[in-house]
Amino acid sequence: MPFHIIQGDITKIQADAIVNAANRSLLGGGGVDGAIHRAAGPRLLEECRTLNGCKTGEAKITRGYDLPAKYVIHTVGPIWSGGHQGEPELLASAYRNSLILALENNCESVAFPLISSGVYGYPLEGALEVAVSTIRAFLEEHDMDVTLVIFDKSSFRFDIRLYSDISGYIRNHCETPERPGSFLGDAAKSVAFGGVSGSRRSIFSRGKTEAKKMEERSAGAGVRRYAEEPCKEPLYEETAEEAEVCLDSIKEEDALIEALQNLDESFSQSLLRLIDARGMKDSECYKKANIDRKLFSKIRSDVHYRPSKQTVLAFAVALELDLPETEELLKKAGFALSHASKSDVIVEYFIAHRNYDIYRINEALFAFDQNLLGA
Ligand code: APR
Repeated sequence: MPFHIIQGDITKIQADAIVNAANRSLLGGGGVDGAIHRAAGPRLLEECRTLNGCKTGEAKITRGYDLPAKYVIHTVGPIWSGGHQGEPELLASAYRNSLILALENNCESVAFPLISSGVYGYPLEGALEVAVSTIRAFLEEHDMDVTLVIFDKSSFRFDIRLYSDISGYIRNHCETPERPGSFLGDAAKSVAFGGVSGSRRSIFSRGKTEAKKMEERSAGAGVRRYAEEPCKEPLYEETAEEAEVCLDSIKEEDALIEALQNLDESFSQSLLRLIDARGMKDSECYKKANIDRKLFSKIRSDVHYRPSKQTVLAFAVALELDLPETEELLKKAGFALSHASKSDVIVEYFIAHRNYDIYRINEALFAFDQNLLGA
């Protein structure tokens, strides 16, 4: 899983490098700085003395000494002074320069604390937002395992509005044993079968003839469209582009129908066909799914690969499947969503709201003490 969020003590992490939220002197201090120096032993400070300090937003690397990590990357976050002195940019460059330094030193894994969110007073929600968005941008271009280590849950401030919205959704949907119910709620069902509610009709509601109709439309595009009963005025003139766009989206959904309704297909075969049907590149899909490249190539090369449920859900999010399509993909791997599982209901919340941002979903899963999506 390229991006993890865990709760713990960064001095115990076995990553190739751990990042220290230092001060500009690099001569140690309190907080995570003090913890890292204590765990690494006195040789760390000796090496830091040779570095001549570090500017805010920059990063320098030393060995890890008595730490389980091979390296320590020392970076200096900004001191919060209201947010108008370039703090967000400086904080982002502290993460970015640390990642670049890790890359230059062939690190395959790196762990960060929540930089500047302690003594330096950066507001917790903003500190998390800058951390996640900077790490995500880096992972779109590079392969590395990046872990954000949250020392105590009180310093993890998830979007409070979203948190309460999800809590309400869990209360209404999470099954207690005495209240069995089908996974597909009414709203999801009506969306699944072309009902009025829900802006997007699932691929299961659209017949093949739609594509046929669209072929005619695009062929005759530019002609005047009339209502069924003869009327004087044309309803509207359709452009070739409009017809073309509709045709593409119908064709794409027809291809999704094939991929999901071909019951003999394995999970791996369905996944690859869904990626093609979406017109995505493999790398685009597995990065959006928070799946590492090595795992994806395993899935790609083994037609009978047995994924975990988190992996299947991660791909459902990356492919932006709706609830019935997600259920179909899960079935290929022998799983089903369940209202008895809080993490399933949280993922359902995001899919039902068409929020396919896997980093956001993982922040929510972490906030609710659930396993993250991806692998
Ligand atoms: N593991 C992981 N995270 C930790 C640990 C630990 N062992 N100890 C503290 N943290 C977390 C804090 O809870 C906070 O969320 O690290 C985050 C950063 O807090 P600070 O360590 O106070 O760092 P920062 O806010 O960047 O301030 C830097 O504090 O320690 C001094 O010398 C340091 O002057 C510098 C300043």
